[in-house]
Amino acid sequence: MESDKITYHTLKTLYDDKSASGFICSFSHLKRADYRHVYEPSEDSFLLIDALQLDLPYITDTINPSTVVEVGVGSGVVITSLAMLLKRDDVVYVATDINPKAIEAAERTAEANQIKLKTQETTFCDGMGLEGKVDILIFNPPYVVTPKEELEMAQEKKDIEASWAGGENGIEVLMAFLEQAEALLSEKGAFYLLLIEENFGIVKILREHFPKIAYLVKRECPGERQIILRLQK
Ligand SMILES: C[S@@+](CC[C@H](N)C(=O)[O-])C[C@H]1O[C@@H](n2cnc3c(N)ncnc32)[C@H](O)[C@@H]1O
Repeated sequence: MESDKITYHTLKTLYDDKSASGFICSFSHLKRADYRHVYEPSEDSFLLIDALQLDLPYITDTINPSTVVEVGVGSGVVITSLAMLLKRDDVVYVATDINPKAIEAAERTAEANQIKLKTQETTFCDGMGLEGKVDILIFNPPYVVTPKEELEMAQEKKDIEASWAGGENGIEVLMAFLEQAEALLSEKGAFYLLLIEENFGIVKILREHFPKIAYLVKRECPGERQIILRLQK
């Protein structure tokens, strides 16, 4: 679809043609106490994994990644599941989060599933020197509309509130990442991003950074319409 105005109902859904297997790595080691501080795997996390699974042929045949990075890794289920689906020892998996408890949870998830994951507690990929090296970039950003002060507090506190507080229009965290995201991607790289319908207005801005946009998968949850985009330079 070329238009910046996404008409949700006309989006092609890959679920019409093929079904994702619903594969997800094990995360039974994470308990209620963890989810008081770390984002619990939810519909959006599962949709992102499904989209990555459905796009595996493109990821393996066209991109053939060496470096995969997930920003805002949370529990770690997304990047760990992708690593298990890719089944490749020659790929470096890197995960970041501002929340130290999320970093710890992601490390436990990777370990429980025998996946090697490098982690870094940082904002986005600040100070990591990954510019131009990332072949697959993944982000399920905090997207709930929140007052500016609440967003600032959440980013400062680095706890569970940072999972959902998205600031004005729910896109402030994503907006703050866009320039770096563009710089991180390698020439062949792809950025897999989750958006909710309320945030579709940002697509015009996304296009300035990533002229190639593919609309991969959509899902309607109670009260929320989610979509996964594949963005490329
Ligand atoms: C909606 S949760 C997604 C968690 C996980 N990726 C998933 O899909 O289940 C958003 C994650 O982004 C993290 N986050 C928020 N702001 C961030 C920032 N500025 N830099 C890095 N991570 C951030 C939160 O701590 C949280 O773990």
